[in-house]
Amino acid sequence: MADQFSQKKTACVVGGTGFMASLLIKLLLQKGYAVNTTVRDPDNKKKISHLTALQELGELKLFGADLTDEGSFDAPIAGSDIVFHVATPVNFASEDPENDMIKPAIQGVQNVLKACAKAKTVKRVVLTSSAATVSINTQNGTGLVMDEKSWTDVEFLSSEKPPTWGYPASKTLAEKEAWKFAQENNIDLITVIPSLMAGPSLTPDIPSSAGLAMSLITGNEFLINGMKGMQMLSGSISITHVEDVCRAHIFLAEKESASGRYICCAVNTSVTELAKFLNKRYPEYKVPTDFGDFPSKAKLSISSEKLLKEGFSFKLGIEEIYDQTVEYFKAKGLLK
Ligand SMILES: NC(=O)c1ccc[n+]([C@@H]2O[C@H](COP(=O)([O-])OP(=O)(O)OC[C@H]3O[C@@H](n4cnc5c(N)ncnc54)[C@H](OP(=O)(O)O)[C@@H]3O)[C@@H](O)[C@H]2O)c1
Ligand SMILES: *[C@@H]1O[C@H](CO)[C@@H](O)[C@H](O)[C@H]1NC(C)=O
Ligand SMILES: *[C@@H]1O[C@H](CO)[C@@H](O)[C@H](O)[C@H]1NC(C)=O
Ligand SMILES: *[C@@H]1O[C@H](CO)[C@@H](O)[C@H](O)[C@H]1NC(C)=O
Repeated sequence: MADQFSQKKTACVVGGTGFMASLLIKLLLQKGYAVNTTVRDPDNKKKISHLTALQELGELKLFGADLTDEGSFDAPIAGSDIVFHVATPVNFASEDPENDMIKPAIQGVQNVLKACAKAKTVKRVVLTSSAATVSINTQNGTGLVMDEKSWTDVEFLSSEKPPTWGYPASKTLAEKEAWKFAQENNIDLITVIPSLMAGPSLTPDIPSSAGLAMSLITGNEFLINGMKGMQMLSGSISITHVEDVCRAHIFLAEKESASGRYICCAVNTSVTELAKFLNKRYPEYKVPTDFGDFPSKAKLSISSEKLLKEGFSFKLGIEEIYDQTVEYFKAKGLLK
């Protein structure tokens, strides 16, 4: 069978230092890909130490690039078959989301896709989007099912400005910009739409999403409130192991028949249901299960049916996600 990617596999990962991207690079190298990756601070030895450690697995080159710096992606992308655009500005506490997240996210998409169009070698671009681009809306009720046709209501976000609104707004507007640019410039684009990620990380610091997912176990009240806020704003608590998210990126990059958006979510749940599960599985952490009048059921679920129909299967369910993240937190000295 003719496979457009079968000869020499080369990939560029935009934004290599992060939780998901660093594991993606590891899996690509293990599959025999030559990889270029971009980081903002190539001279910051500590921040890139986990990437330089991966260089013994295969051909990995680091380049300095910033989403807001037009042209900084030309060199790393030149010669790549596949480009994974993973980087995104994250600043949940920002007082100026427009300039801290929305503008640089959109600019980043434009700059990366411009470099892809220029390279003439790029066969497919895989953009990491977010469930936050799908599920935020003013619908009421329970049992709603969201799929790839659903889009977050940006007008609601920018008029009501609920806490952390800048992040979902930036992800939604950036993904929309990517679809527009890809269509105008004839780029083969796929977007992957992951839910909250947990699992062990290669990064020197603990990823904030793993901290959030673990809050019911660590007892961090601020982050438990963050989980409640997430359920209220996004409609559910949806979780996926970071390794499955990376596997889905590579699966979709290599699968010729793939096209459009793909939700990637292993588990749909709510704060209360998750707390009951954790309380039973890890009695030693005395996870609280009474949340007063906080809604015990999620408003909606997000469906990975399209990804599953394409032939993907999740390897890690809720038990493995939490068993591995608990072990990771113990190894980092954050749990007993
Ligand atoms: N984590 C989750 O639960 C989750 C859920 C759904 C979707 N996602 C999406 O998945 C992707 C990866 O998430 P993550 O949690 O792994 O990310 P992360 O660990 O927070 O890393 C963010 C990355 O973006 C880079 N970045 C930020 N601003 C940049 C800029 N101006 N120029 C260049 N690079 C910039 C950072 O580079 P520096 O090292 O230079 O700071 C870092 O590599 C993101 O697109 C995110 O929106 C994440
Ligand atoms: C990495 O970038 C260099 C310099 O532009 C290019 O020659 C090479 O083909 C790229 N490699 C990959 C794996 O994309
Ligand atoms: C959902 O309920 C809220 C509060 O009662 C109301 O303001 C909003 O209009 C409702 N949304 C829809 C789509 O009916
Ligand atoms: C999540 O919800 C969707 C829609 O109801 C369903 O198709 C899917 O099977 C659910 N996934 C899990 C792992 O429960």
